[in-house]
Amino acid sequence: MNTTKSFIRGTGAYLPQRVLSNDDLAQMVDTSDQWIRDRTGIQQRHIAAEGELTSDLAVASAKEALKNSGLVPADVDLIVLATTTPDQTFPATATAVQSKLGITGGAAFDVQAVCSGFLFALATADSMLRQGLFSTALVIGAETFTRILDWSDRSTCVLFGDGSGAAVLQAAPGAENEGVIAHHIRTDGAKSDLLYVDGGVSSTGTIGHVRMQGNQVFRHAVTNISSAIETVLEQTGYTIADVDWFVPHQANQRILSGVAKRLGLDDEKVVSTVSHHGNTSAASIPLALHTAISDGRIKKGDLVLSEAMGGGFSWGASLFRL
Ligand code: UT7
Repeated sequence: MNTTKSFIRGTGAYLPQRVLSNDDLAQMVDTSDQWIRDRTGIQQRHIAAEGELTSDLAVASAKEALKNSGLVPADVDLIVLATTTPDQTFPATATAVQSKLGITGGAAFDVQAVCSGFLFALATADSMLRQGLFSTALVIGAETFTRILDWSDRSTCVLFGDGSGAAVLQAAPGAENEGVIAHHIRTDGAKSDLLYVDGGVSSTGTIGHVRMQGNQVFRHAVTNISSAIETVLEQTGYTIADVDWFVPHQANQRILSGVAKRLGLDDEKVVSTVSHHGNTSAASIPLALHTAISDGRIKKGDLVLSEAMGGGFSWGASLFRL
């Protein structure tokens, strides 16, 4: 039976021009290319230029996503932007994107779930489209995450980068196994002290820097992600063997591989871009998705499983068909 579903019509991505290598970082803190590669799989990250804002990154990826969808900005009536590094405290960065794209109608707002942000934004936009509130959404993950790094803290500054990825989601009649199929999103505020920023508007009045107990986060990540994936599969009746592509949040190659191994997923089905751009927080899933669509790996009709885990803790999994 056909109902209103949401469909991914096209994707886009943007990485700032400047690249910072592991060797560059070894000049700044006590680290090495070898340590970073062995522990994380990261080889380089991109850094936004001075004056280049999260909204600029978002607009660049959104334009490409619209082009690849065969749509124009005037078709968009919803923008959900996942970011942890907004242009300003308010208004929402999504409204800057709306204005820069010349969109005058509809609604635009931000979602804050750190590295899980894209999946939270996708679930939000999908629900609104299926309810008939809007017809065409830009779902964007965009970060200038390097602006909240403490460049003297080697345990965090080597991990993150800047970037943006976007998907155009459109409502249309569809069957249960078409388009966006299922989500499972969760948070646990009691674990917030393991990954957080030590500043904020109402606490310190400063922007603050990322603080993380990496090995603790790592431990929780594999468990929470695996359980979210199992829930999504159980909800929908699919098995891991049905999944054509696994597009995880790109935090650490060891987490990606650990989850894939635990689930029994073939390595060839795992899309990994972490070596190229590091952890770009909310941008990492759409960046990886766009990469694998552009290079022809993910094709129309393929079943894609995605997952993320981040500060909050927040985590989730999504299942969709291209
Ligand atoms: O996307 C949001 C979610 N975040 C994540 O998913 C991050 C999850 N965590 C991780 O990816 C890993 O825990 C890290 C990559 C952050 C760290 O790897 P680890 O294997 O868990 O290392 P560790 O924190 O247990 O540290 C091991 C050693 C320590 O030295 P000692 O105490 O053994 O002498 C650290 O001080 O590595 C040291 N270390 C470094 N050494 C060289 C920490 N950072 C560095 C560094 N270079 N950059």
